[in-house]
Amino acid sequence: MTVRTAIVGATGVVGREMLATLERRDFPVGDLRMFASERSAGSVVPTRWGDVTVESLSGADPAGVEVALFSAGGDRSREHAPRFAAAGTVVVDNSSAFRMDPRVPLVVAGVNDAAAHGHHSIIANPNCTTMVLMMGLAPLHRAAGLTDLVATSYQSVSGSGHRGIATLEAESAHFSTDLDALRTGTWREPPPGFYVRPIGFNVIPFTGAGVAGGYTDEEMKLVDETRKILEAPGVRVEPTCVRVPVMVSHGVAATAWFERPVAADEACDLIAGAPGVELWMDKVPTPLDAAGRDDVLVGRIRATVGRPGGISLWTVGDNLRKGAALNAVQIAEIVVGG
Ligand SMILES: NC(=O)c1ccc[n+]([C@@H]2O[C@H](COP(=O)([O-])OP(=O)(O)OC[C@H]3O[C@@H](n4cnc5c(N)ncnc54)[C@H](OP(=O)(O)O)[C@@H]3O)[C@@H](O)[C@H]2O)c1
Repeated sequence: MTVRTAIVGATGVVGREMLATLERRDFPVGDLRMFASERSAGSVVPTRWGDVTVESLSGADPAGVEVALFSAGGDRSREHAPRFAAAGTVVVDNSSAFRMDPRVPLVVAGVNDAAAHGHHSIIANPNCTTMVLMMGLAPLHRAAGLTDLVATSYQSVSGSGHRGIATLEAESAHFSTDLDALRTGTWREPPPGFYVRPIGFNVIPFTGAGVAGGYTDEEMKLVDETRKILEAPGVRVEPTCVRVPVMVSHGVAATAWFERPVAADEACDLIAGAPGVELWMDKVPTPLDAAGRDDVLVGRIRATVGRPGGISLWTVGDNLRKGAALNAVQIAEIVVGG
């Protein structure tokens, strides 16, 4: 059996990782089509299934595409995913366009795979930060019932695509010409980049766009998507999302409380047995360790000291792999495998 497959947003940071993931996991690609903007149309991408010429998404005829992995931004998903779905394609969408639609499953492979089977042609891939956090948190929730969660993210610049990466590279070079100025506060403002403040040698406690109540949309994704994935609408989530000068991998420092007290040893056992997760209690897992890995790393598991009975942990995962491309391909595998 082979599957006529498409990557939409194929020239982007996630799109390129999607191709690499299809190749690495031997996805049974029959015919491969690639879509991007007019800017990239006509460029040729070598793949293990032969050279593929990138097509312009606008006006593309999706006829015959069985599975499409969408990663070209929410506006493109809203405009084109329904068109693909109407042509009989199962769309795995990496944007936030459909995640909270009650008819659209929001699936973390290894956590709620069965939800994928309830699709009506579109399945949503969760936000990359939520995805990483769910891998270690879901086993604890299943065992003890999550009630309260305080989560602070440390998100890499590749989470913003090629413009985030270019900004970190440019600003790192800019500040590196006068490192003393970083110590004395006499640094010069770099040329405008992708973020609201410089990210080179800095951290920015603001990711995405502001929404009501002083939160950002990225923070509200952490709230809403956690509840939907865990099927726990009453969970109380306190999110803070921070951009850090890291190239790849999102980290999350989380503290969670449950319907009953959970001991650190029990939490370690549950997480060690979860698929797609590595327990790192002897070595501190960092973004550099997680980059280029499929598995999400969890460490620093400890019992809460301020309000006893809960668990604090640190988790970090490659936002381009489990946070995006890998999970999208895993969803496609679930769909294709029946
Ligand atoms: N980066 C992550 O960690 C991550 C994780 C989860 C989800 N996502 C989501 O994945 C999507 C893509 O992210 P990315 O990081 O790969 O961004 P990116 O590097 O900026 O790539 C964007 C892709 O979308 C295409 N595109 C842009 N405008 C288009 C248009 N008008 N018509 C057709 N194609 C268009 C681009 O094609 P051209 O090259 O031709 O411009 C490119 O292929 C976003 O929805 C993002 O929120 C990203």
